[in-house]
Amino acid sequence: MGAYHYQPVVYHPHNQKPSCKNPGYFVSKPTCAWLACGFLSLALLHLLCCDPTATRQAAFSPLRQYINNTYSFVSTVPGGGKSCNYSEGSWVWAPGHGRRYNATECNVKESHDCIRNGRHDTGYLDWRWQPAGNCPLLAFDATLFLTVVRGKHVAFIGDSMARNQAQSLICLLTAGATFPYRLLYRGTGAYPDKYNYWRYAFPSHDVTVSFYWTPFLVRAEGKSVDDGLLHNYVHLDEPHDRWAADADTIDVAVLTAGHWFLNGAVYYNGSEVIGVHNAPPEFTNHTIIGYAWPLRVAYRSAMEWLLSSGRPQPRTLVLATFSPSHFEGEPAENPTSWVCRKTEPYTEGEKEMAWVVKDTRGIVHDEAEAAKARYDGNGGGGAVRIEVLDVTKLAAMRPDGHPGVYMNRDPFAHDGVQVEKLVSDCLHFCLPGPVDTFNEILVQLLKRGR
Ligand SMILES: *[C@@H]1O[C@H](CO)[C@@H](O)[C@H](O)[C@H]1NC(C)=O
Ligand SMILES: *[C@@H]1O[C@H](CO)[C@@H](O)[C@H](O)[C@H]1NC(C)=O
Ligand SMILES: *[C@@H]1O[C@H](CO)[C@@H](O)[C@H](O)[C@H]1NC(C)=O
Ligand SMILES: *[C@@H]1O[C@H](CO)[C@@H](O)[C@H](O)[C@H]1NC(C)=O
Ligand SMILES: *[C@@H]1O[C@H](CO)[C@@H](O)[C@H](O)[C@H]1NC(C)=O
Repeated sequence: MGAYHYQPVVYHPHNQKPSCKNPGYFVSKPTCAWLACGFLSLALLHLLCCDPTATRQAAFSPLRQYINNTYSFVSTVPGGGKSCNYSEGSWVWAPGHGRRYNATECNVKESHDCIRNGRHDTGYLDWRWQPAGNCPLLAFDATLFLTVVRGKHVAFIGDSMARNQAQSLICLLTAGATFPYRLLYRGTGAYPDKYNYWRYAFPSHDVTVSFYWTPFLVRAEGKSVDDGLLHNYVHLDEPHDRWAADADTIDVAVLTAGHWFLNGAVYYNGSEVIGVHNAPPEFTNHTIIGYAWPLRVAYRSAMEWLLSSGRPQPRTLVLATFSPSHFEGEPAENPTSWVCRKTEPYTEGEKEMAWVVKDTRGIVHDEAEAAKARYDGNGGGGAVRIEVLDVTKLAAMRPDGHPGVYMNRDPFAHDGVQVEKLVSDCLHFCLPGPVDTFNEILVQLLKRGR
């Protein structure tokens, strides 16, 4: 076991063949052993590669009635002032609060469209994040968001949690079609993936919102580019070329990374290997550097490239903190429990936050503080604002908000389904779901800086 136990995104029992062609999807025992067990598997995130196994049309869904077709979630509660600290708080019962949009209508990844996929318990949509100190967090307001970022290009750069949040934002902004919008592209040129490279325009406010899949923030080769490969080779001294090419168009960047650093990689500076974490066998004679230092360097490098790209000021960089997964149990001991089956948030104190989760959260805060000191007011000649979007606590409290086995359509539709053989996504959130709250907080952070 490694010093930091971390849990994979998808669990296949050891005796089962992978259900799709992707070899990285299935973590064999030998692989697991030399990986110091348990880490690699996380890289599977885009396991989401796999098409849903069941393709038949869903029968009439009784859940339909729960979606509030008025889509009117503009709150009239005043407040949300400068002093609000959104990172601590609790989830309070608020029936209907999370039922905001129909994810099928906003191009989300099918594996996050839990309602379409047949998830029947929808209580996970009935909670509202109440920040500590009684300050209110207003429900998402598309008008407010577009007004706050009027004339700007908002870019989400990062891993699949960045994508989860970016897709949530598009759903929140397009629900009810209050404002005209246009999909500018889904996949381009050398980057054809329709979920990982896209941009929307909201012409009424001259706003664009884009997503750049780049799980290490910097340039990487290997598994993150080709899921058929087992390992990652990461160039800490080079930006990912797809977002770097657009860096001088980005006004507001939301950076999200962490999970892939925990999995491990071979890290390069130029052509030199500077260290490894959970390395493939041929690299194990190199210095073991863990995940923390590369993660810090990647954040610093990404911020530096964004701010030195020549875009006129002001610019805003938002660093999102770690959103942990909720795989329960140890596969060897209890295969059937390794699925996120909870239907309610944790209560305060019910579950201690894992050390590694606190550590990655702290790294983001540290790097944001250091960047504030570095760029304060003069990141190359104008106003630069650095904010932390601390979602760790609120996300950690929501084991109930993941697709679980509903990452596939109608997982129980076939006779004789063996529950323990189903695969689960206990990392990303259902859409709609708790990740919508990330965007409620994002609006407030952007608003108070104006
Ligand atoms: C969501 O939208 C799709 C496509 O318009 C529709 O087929 C489906 O019934 C809707 N789902 C709900 C729960 O309203
Ligand atoms: C928010 O609350 C947390 C936990 O109490 C604290 O560590 C953090 O410093 C606070 N942040 C701000 C900006 O006050
Ligand atoms: C739907 O939205 C309307 C308008 O805000 C509200 O009056 C109604 O209570 C909502 N229904 C549910 C089920 O949330
Ligand atoms: C990479 O090497 C250059 C030149 O030797 C050095 O200045 C830089 O600090 C190194 N970067 C990292 C991340 O080690
Ligand atoms: C590590 O082993 C590989 C393969 O045997 C070798 O090519 C490389 O030079 C070694 N690196 C170090 C730092 O010893």
